Amino acid sequence: METNTQRLLHTFAALADLGQEIADTGDFEEMLRASFHLLLGSLAIRRGAVGEYNHVGKTLTLAAARGLGDVLELELPLSTEHARHLESLGSALSLAASKKEAARFLVDHQRTFPAVEIDLLVPLVVRERLIGVVLLGEKATGEAFTEEDVEIVKALARHIGVGIHSHRLLEEVEHKADENRRLYDGLRTIYKETVHAFAAAIDIKDRYTQGHSVRVGKYSEIIAREMGWTDDAVEGIAIAGYLHDIGKLIVDLNVLNSPGRFNAKESKEMSRHPTAGYEILSPISHPYADIPLMARYHHERLDGNGYPDGLKGDEIPPGAKIVTLADSFDAMTTDRPYRNRLPLADVLEDFRVNTGTQFEPAVVCAFCRAFLKEIEGTSKEKRLMKLLGKNYDNVESVSPILTQLISDLDGDGDMRAASAAGH
Ligand SMILES: [Fe+2]
Repeated sequence: METNTQRLLHTFAALADLGQEIADTGDFEEMLRASFHLLLGSLAIRRGAVGEYNHVGKTLTLAAARGLGDVLELELPLSTEHARHLESLGSALSLAASKKEAARFLVDHQRTFPAVEIDLLVPLVVRERLIGVVLLGEKATGEAFTEEDVEIVKALARHIGVGIHSHRLLEEVEHKADENRRLYDGLRTIYKETVHAFAAAIDIKDRYTQGHSVRVGKYSEIIAREMGWTDDAVEGIAIAGYLHDIGKLIVDLNVLNSPGRFNAKESKEMSRHPTAGYEILSPISHPYADIPLMARYHHERLDGNGYPDGLKGDEIPPGAKIVTLADSFDAMTTDRPYRNRLPLADVLEDFRVNTGTQFEPAVVCAFCRAFLKEIEGTSKEKRLMKLLGKNYDNVESVSPILTQLISDLDGDGDMRAASAAGH
């Protein structure tokens, strides 16, 4: 009785330790090894192994072993019929059945285990599926196994089976998540490539503004990054820049490519493009927020005198305010049919005069800061200067103007300073 109580206590202690091992999913292989050695220790068994069953490959892979020689990772064939039979034994497994299965296993794998004695085989069955098997050799004391021993082994083995099962589920979930991530990345790539194709189509249609959409996207990106937008939002605004003029695809080609300034009729035709862009972009589900709105509102002005909706101040989405400035900057720094590009000092003067009425002060300020950082060499890349191209010599000369503009705008785009500067 004394011995039985002690053994029971010992089993409970082993179970508790096993629970701890299984809860720690950090290193599955290590968990399996440790759990198995706890099982061997609880009955003072010298040799044995744990095998994981693969239903697809119909193989048993030995994942932990002691005293059986070099058998780890060994793959042993085990038919579906045999697996079904082991599943059927389940929790009702008796000492006799366990011995019988061990004997069958040795006959089946005589070549692999020619001189090894295995006394018990306990199937690991979870939710009526064979997860693996535990093979056990004799006790160190030389005593025979009892029904009670088999019950102990079954209790411990069940823990190991659940551990393996959970690990497999986790792997499956991770695999699915990986697969989803790959699919999502693929979709994003397709989306981006489509956007680039559209940007190219817009710029080809409008032959006077070649490369305009792509440059506006890149200027917008630079400004948003300087304003501290998140990576995702920065990617989004670049897309909005590429697509802001997509509505031009439906504008009359003759108007679009008319060599002089627009007459009233042409202007009216041209001013349809933000709303048309919105209508083209709205039915598409974009992986970034507000893309259609940024196209619709890139000709709005802070003072409400813009189009198509005459929005004022904060009614205009922040992204649209950035695209507006990027758009104006590119328009002024590239040649148009009716005028040559403006000197940079004139462009910045236009910004100064129109900040607070047309342009958002915080956006102008961020643009100036990003530009100044490139001129002063504090930012690694010279993206803005590269986009300006070789058309401009002596870009550095605008550095004092930029400094002055930033200071006028109070560094953080204060509206009062901006209106003072704008009037
Ligand atoms: Fe536009």
